[in-house]
Amino acid sequence: MIEFRNVTKMLGGRAVLDGVSFHVEQGETFVIVGSSGVGKSVTLKHMVRLFRPDEGEVLVDGESISRATGSRLEKMREQFGYLFQGGALLAWLTVAENVALPLREKTALSNDEILKRVRETLKLVGLENDGHKHPSEISGGMQKRAGLARAIVRQARIVLYDEPTSGLDPVTSRAIDALIEGMRRELGVTSVVVTHDLHSALSIGARIAMLHGGKMIECAAPEDFVRSSRPEVRAFLESQFITKRGAWERIIQ
Ligand SMILES: Nc1ncnc2c1ncn2[C@@H]1O[C@H](COP(=O)(O)OP(=O)(O)O)[C@@H](O)[C@H]1O
Ligand SMILES: [Mg+2]
Repeated sequence: MIEFRNVTKMLGGRAVLDGVSFHVEQGETFVIVGSSGVGKSVTLKHMVRLFRPDEGEVLVDGESISRATGSRLEKMREQFGYLFQGGALLAWLTVAENVALPLREKTALSNDEILKRVRETLKLVGLENDGHKHPSEISGGMQKRAGLARAIVRQARIVLYDEPTSGLDPVTSRAIDALIEGMRRELGVTSVVVTHDLHSALSIGARIAMLHGGKMIECAAPEDFVRSSRPEVRAFLESQFITKRGAWERIIQ
């Protein structure tokens, strides 16, 4: 469904992505982990052509989005919902108006239908009583959930989530995991999730990939990922109490 073929991207004088290849299958939740600044957001942005590879290409359903132009590019982008890392809400619109935006811009739904869909989606993320507020009047966690509502409101077939649970409490984080999993199960949505949250990664990911030094150094199902022998993967796992046997244990020195 989404394929990276040997993608190299230079930013700030270095290859942030250095010949990266992988394939996200239709209907799967594909998780990307890795340290800060390693290129996770840059990877997501290539999927909707907010970045273009210097070498290689990105294909969506077999068609190059890296080379698409004009209305064809617009059409390809319309298949995606996107939760940006910072939430990226428009400050001058209310929460409900922010969530309605993709429906107003990209669908022919009537105003009544839009209001109904916005109400339902706000309820899904626990913001049913906050639609009338402006982003500055709600907490960071609520802004995150509003961004999430905007990403899923159109029921796009592919949703990209950039750190959907960062800065949220564990209970809200698990609710967001359940939401992502529910969209896969009930609507067949394909998701790509960038996260630092190992709990999320293991519970929603069909496969987990790790970026390091411009390369995808691991890409495996959760049960294999936790047994990876790559030192960078081990360091990531051990920082979150996963041992070599793949068991979730507190390591007491
Ligand atoms: N628009 C940009 N211009 C120049 N450098 C960028 C840009 N976006 C990201 N970078 C650089 O690319 C690297 C990877 O960034 P990013 O993908 O945001 O990291 P993360 O894995 O934390 O999401 C960083 O070194 C960042 O400074
Ligand atoms: Mg990022």
